[in-house]
Amino acid sequence: MFQQKVTLSDNVKECLNQVINACPHDKLFVLADEYTARLCLPLIQNQEYLDKAECIIIGSTDTHKTLDSLSYVWKELSDKGGTRHSLMLNVGGGMVTDLGGFAASTFKRGITYINIPTTLLAMVDASVGGKTGINFNGLKNEIGVFNPAKTVLIDTNFLRTLDSQNIFSGYAEMLKHGLISTKEHWADLLNFNLNDIDYTSLQTLVAHSIGIKENIVKQDPLERGIRKALNLGHTVGHAFESLALEENRPHLHGYAVAWGLVCELYLSHLKVGFPIDKMRQTIQFIRETYGVFPFECKQYNRLYEFMTHDKKNTSNSINFTLLSDIGDIHINQTATQKEIEEMLDFYRETMG
Ligand code: GLY
Repeated sequence: MFQQKVTLSDNVKECLNQVINACPHDKLFVLADEYTARLCLPLIQNQEYLDKAECIIIGSTDTHKTLDSLSYVWKELSDKGGTRHSLMLNVGGGMVTDLGGFAASTFKRGITYINIPTTLLAMVDASVGGKTGINFNGLKNEIGVFNPAKTVLIDTNFLRTLDSQNIFSGYAEMLKHGLISTKEHWADLLNFNLNDIDYTSLQTLVAHSIGIKENIVKQDPLERGIRKALNLGHTVGHAFESLALEENRPHLHGYAVAWGLVCELYLSHLKVGFPIDKMRQTIQFIRETYGVFPFECKQYNRLYEFMTHDKKNTSNSINFTLLSDIGDIHINQTATQKEIEEMLDFYRETMG
């Protein structure tokens, strides 16, 4: 089922030519959001096949990852003559690659699609690995399928169009990849200067990060086992993200993941002996880069409720991925309410 080619290039135009030529099709559709249509499409246009393509533009940000946007994309595909042999090119961040991937996977029972991620988060995580979907009923990624893009074409030059918050957001997923891989990669990530980015070095780190994800996804495309390693930081991270949204102080996904990593490294220390020095070094990097997500003890119950509703859980126990050291992964771990409260106390004492 799982065949996905990830190509890194710093000449996306030329590479795209080859990638599209390798996908026979009757009609090409390009999906972008209002920002990527303006900022990124011009960087790949002026090619015969793209000039003839039908463009579908949707609203940007996660608030548009909805059934309404999806329905609009399906309608455009249908009205503009899409067939089972059409090809879709998703150009954007994780919202566009997730929603576009789902639209392509379901239109006429599935057409081929290519992802061109334009944010760091989409490059190292969302666009790679075949998770597609939309938010539904107030829940993130509630509806979707596993179906990989034929090719993911990555050009880190797009990162030069990103603000630092979006760079930091994607970097949190890279930090997660560092924690689940090797001490060397983890140390390289902590030593990288995010305040004065050397884009050549960043490209090397991005390539390494994607390789880590690809390797895990190849072993377990449907997340029955080791792919759960990629959920490190996300059980608490999603709870922070949901609380922040509910209280009208939303944060970018990667920020919530970074704060979630602080908590889950503490839980890793408590339950499976993650070394305290590595925990402290990682937390210092996170505090300096992402600041703090403040909350009080009266919000513990709400955070706990969010954790119990996480879709990674089975039969009412909260599912965590923990580490006994860098790269020593323990999936399917759980924690009591008391341990979770202790973890939240630790977060507030250390980060506050
Ligand atoms: N974002 C985690 C995964 O793709 O499994």
